[in-house]
Amino acid sequence: MKVLTSTQYARYTILGCTIFGLFAAAVMAVAGHQAALAFLVIFGLLTALGIHDLTQRHHAVLRNYPIIGHIRFLLESIRPEIRQYLIESDNDELPFSREARSLVYQRAKGAEDKRPFGTSEKVYEAGYSWVTHSVAPKIITDTDFRIPIGGPECRQPYDASLYNISAMSFGALSGNAIAALNRGAKKGGFAHDTGEGGSAAITAKAAAT
Ligand SMILES: Cc1cc2nc3c(=O)[nH]c(=O)nc-3n(C[C@H](O)[C@H](O)[C@H](O)COP(=O)(O)O)c2cc1C
Repeated sequence: MKVLTSTQYARYTILGCTIFGLFAAAVMAVAGHQAALAFLVIFGLLTALGIHDLTQRHHAVLRNYPIIGHIRFLLESIRPEIRQYLIESDNDELPFSREARSLVYQRAKGAEDKRPFGTSEKVYEAGYSWVTHSVAPKIITDTDFRIPIGGPECRQPYDASLYNISAMSFGALSGNAIAALNRGAKKGGFAHDTGEGGSAAITAKAAAT
């Protein structure tokens, strides 16, 4: 028979205590103590849990650490809350950081939502990128940002605009908005992605104009 070391025995301390408590409660019951029943139930349930943990084969943690091993599962179940309330920094978490979320909560509650200028982000850290306004803007001669699609052999080469209207479906936008965007696209000679919403007569009408 395998003999356990003292450290290994230590794992069963809590189970040992509950068994001892159960015996003590039984002695109290025999002595006619009023609180005995409550202790019998508490220690009885804990002992049953410990024996179940010892004999089950699904979780090594519970087998090795009966009763007390449940703390691990308990902590795991509240891990997101612990992270959110105690550990998470303002800029952690994707897609919405704590900072962004709290702004949404504040606005939803009609609370003060103004932010001072400046940022709490580490903007000089490697990997942080941003677009800065120039105090001396460059003059760009070609403002027609286009890229040719199709070489000399292509029968229908196409000068695609780099700026286009991204998908916004009819339904998400009103018919008038779609028609206005579509007319703008025609004027500027760029593409208008109509999105995947309900196909609208208005889109067809707008496209025709
Ligand atoms: C009102 C509205 C409607 C949209 N409808 C669609 C759609 O039908 N299909 C689609 O793929 N994307 C749709 N989008 C997403 C946009 O095409 C685009 O990807 C998104 O707005 C991100 O670009 P932005 O950061 O320039 O706004 C919609 C966006 C908005 C604001």
